[in-house]
Amino acid sequence: MDIEAGPETLHPLIASRFSPYRFDAAHTLDDAALTSLLDAARSAPSAGNSQPWGFLPARRGDARHARIVEHLAPSSRSWALDASALIVTAAHLWVDEAIAYSEFADYDLGQAAAYLTIQAQAVGLSCHQFRGFDLDGLTVELAPAYGWSIRSIIAVGVAADVGASTRTRRTVAEVTSEAWG
Ligand SMILES: Cc1cc2nc3c(=O)[nH]c(=O)nc-3n(C[C@H](O)[C@H](O)[C@H](O)COP(=O)(O)O)c2cc1C
Repeated sequence: MDIEAGPETLHPLIASRFSPYRFDAAHTLDDAALTSLLDAARSAPSAGNSQPWGFLPARRGDARHARIVEHLAPSSRSWALDASALIVTAAHLWVDEAIAYSEFADYDLGQAAAYLTIQAQAVGLSCHQFRGFDLDGLTVELAPAYGWSIRSIIAVGVAADVGASTRTRRTVAEVTSEAWG
């Protein structure tokens, strides 16, 4: 399915969202905009209101950003360095070796990331979530608290490309049937 040719009920913020491969390297993310993204993320629903998400923002040029960039894969470096900010995400998986914090930690983190992404879209920013980094190296670098696991990085900024001319998705018929045997 071509998203742009999808149902007219699709909200413009969703229909127009895409993951840029080019960002405006002159744009800087101010405190208010960054806070609005994190406010959106923390307002997402979660199982039992467990809120098993963590976000570590770094703006292009600051010391933390430099530490994160060290661990990006070459495939990500080629575009993510120009983003205004990199936000490392983490999920709260474990209370201790025997007790999971929440069986829905990844589900809930993903939902919070989606809220952040749509809020970004609403204020003229774009996000490109990615896994193209050295997970072990970044984990040593940032030393998340016990029970927390780094999951992704969200590059945020002003898009300097227009995305693919068409973005394909499985159809509504497929997503409502294929998983169910
Ligand atoms: C958890 C996650 C990990 C991703 N990892 C990468 C990545 O390592 N490199 C990359 O270029 N894009 C990555 N993406 C972006 C997806 O490839 C992209 O969202 C997908 O192709 C759909 O494109 P669109 O977001 O423009 O609609 C990732 C997205 C998510 C949600």
